[in-house]
Amino acid sequence: MFFLPMQHKAAGLSRNPLKAIVSPRPIAWVSSRGADDSVNLAPYSFFNAVSEDPAMLFFSAEVLAGGKRKDSLRNIEETGEFTVNVVGEAQFDAMNISSGNYPYGDNEFIHAGLEMVASETVATPRVGGAAAAMECKLHDTIQLPRNADDRGYVMVIGIVTGIHVDDAVVVDGKIAYDRFVPISRLGYRDYGRVTDIFEAVRPSD
Ligand SMILES: Cc1cc2nc3c(=O)[nH]c(=O)nc-3n(C[C@H](O)[C@H](O)[C@H](O)COP(=O)(O)O)c2cc1C
Repeated sequence: MFFLPMQHKAAGLSRNPLKAIVSPRPIAWVSSRGADDSVNLAPYSFFNAVSEDPAMLFFSAEVLAGGKRKDSLRNIEETGEFTVNVVGEAQFDAMNISSGNYPYGDNEFIHAGLEMVASETVATPRVGGAAAAMECKLHDTIQLPRNADDRGYVMVIGIVTGIHVDDAVVVDGKIAYDRFVPISRLGYRDYGRVTDIFEAVRPSD
């Protein structure tokens, strides 16, 4: 089958398959702090690393018609800082709770029963018990084109200023995925656990 973007129903697909096609995606569990000192935590799966040195990453937050921003984006625009926490199997329920639609200023760490741990290079707390966390300073935001409903996304590009790794997930100097089991976002309401790992050498190695 072939169809134009958002025309999936005419092709017989009941739900937009884009996120199922672009899967698995890592989940940025973004903690941020507002100018009023309130703390926020929310998951974003339009997320990836974009360069290694300097270490940089992005996530995209949807902006609703009229320009209403998600709390994470509002905070990052106000303070220029955020932290990306890794979601392992043990954090799945808390991550899901933190995606709830809470009023601005409500602290999702508290809703999800999570410990706030102070960061080193930014003022935003990180998630206690997470396998890893990356402290970031805002590099740039890019307003992506809006759709016919006047909704669009803002890409948040961050430069990593500090990296925390839980010593318990390090084996022989490498991150051991089986010590925390990364969770990835698929399409629809689906998620994946990273459990079946294999190694391969490149032709040039
Ligand atoms: C696994 C997962 C991934 C998500 N990814 C995104 C995303 O990439 N962009 C987005 O705008 N919302 C995404 N959401 C929805 C936000 O987490 C949700 O709107 C949340 O309430 C935003 O919180 P905030 O307003 O505190 O920032 C995702 C939700 C879940 C559960």
